[in-house]
Amino acid sequence: MPNQSKNIILGISAGIAAYKMYDLVSDLKKLGHNINVVLTKDSINFVNELTLKVLSSNPVFCNMFAPELQTKPIHIDLADSADLILVSPATADIIAKIANGICDELITNILLAAKCPVYIAPAMNTNMWEHFTTQKNIETLVTKLGYKIIPPEQGDLACGYTGVGHIASNEKILNAVLNIKKDKTRGLGTKRVIVTAGGTREAVDPVRFIGNRSSGKMGIALADIAYEMGAEVVLVSTVPCDKPYQVIEVESAQEMQEVIESEFDKSDALIMAAAVSDFRPITASKQKIKKKNEDIVIELTRNPDILEILGRTKRDKQVIIGFSAESEDTEKNAWEKLQKKKIDIIVANDITVPDIGFGSDENAVMILTKDKEREVLQRQPKTQIARHICKKLAQMLNEVKEAKKV
Ligand SMILES: Cc1cc2nc3c(=O)[nH]c(=O)nc-3n(C[C@H](O)[C@H](O)[C@H](O)COP(=O)(O)O)c2cc1C
Repeated sequence: MPNQSKNIILGISAGIAAYKMYDLVSDLKKLGHNINVVLTKDSINFVNELTLKVLSSNPVFCNMFAPELQTKPIHIDLADSADLILVSPATADIIAKIANGICDELITNILLAAKCPVYIAPAMNTNMWEHFTTQKNIETLVTKLGYKIIPPEQGDLACGYTGVGHIASNEKILNAVLNIKKDKTRGLGTKRVIVTAGGTREAVDPVRFIGNRSSGKMGIALADIAYEMGAEVVLVSTVPCDKPYQVIEVESAQEMQEVIESEFDKSDALIMAAAVSDFRPITASKQKIKKKNEDIVIELTRNPDILEILGRTKRDKQVIIGFSAESEDTEKNAWEKLQKKKIDIIVANDITVPDIGFGSDENAVMILTKDKEREVLQRQPKTQIARHICKKLAQMLNEVKEAKKV
């Protein structure tokens, strides 16, 4: 999550992993960065220029001799304007060219002219990756040029091999280039924070479940920001994700409850952003329920109310933040929930407002506290809302500490 927007050049070379850059461009853009995509001539076989143009909201560069570009040499213009350059996927070929200063592509010209940090995410067949020449070239990039390598991983490769060569996940690439790292000197340094994310799934049978529309974006944004602010984060999530902090994957409300209860005692705070199902089928059938020509009835039972249980038992210095998604009487219900569950902060949103909330990257919320504070955050990216909530959490945790000193 950026504190400020960056000018990023994304060089895409001709590897099969190039299609993953659609999502990466989109993610970087949503985080507020300006992306200029530069394609190698061969990469056009793998990705579509127009798609990247639309996703980045910028022209896509490939031919450095295009007449419309010739006011100032485009490679110098782009090199001068970049805050960072990422080459992803980086083929064995482009790595060899960069290591040897070969300038027959726009991106290699830019790299030679640039002074900013450079990140390389290689992806290729295992034998190509392990080849002496590729390894020697990588060493040159690291030791002679100071580039940062986002290493390829072990996996099933498109070429049919299983081995090292699979491109790192987009999340790892984002974490690396945006330098998402823990800063222990910030508000949540020394604190241990549990964050929940996603929607629980309550099994009906081995293939079916009762679920909800939560995407996990709010919880994941909160965990990212808490981590950035120095906290030791435990993310309990129904959505798989690759993070520099601990992620515990769960499926049902009961599984989530078990994990939280075992982690809560040693934690300073719990942020319950997950949408936990209120009910689950009394029994989950061990076999797939067969289709019959008659209606079936699934009997539901109440799931434990995790917030209420922990609100009752929490220690004074622990802080609990709950979320309340309402379709009517949002504020009234949220105040009631805050009191009934004995929690410290409630973040309420009206799910009837179109285009925000579930699944969206934006939300508009009301933050209510046990000290009767009321704050309205107008529509904005979930990452900004997360930052606001984490600052409030830090303030509350530090107030607890100050109060204890008196
Ligand atoms: C289907 C297909 C997939 C390829 N995937 C990769 C790859 O993942 N990594 C790689 O280094 N080369 C791969 N290559 C070879 C590169 O496309 C080739 O070396 C190309 O000339 C590299 O161009 P560039 O580095 O200028 O983008 C692939 C080739 C084909 C035909």
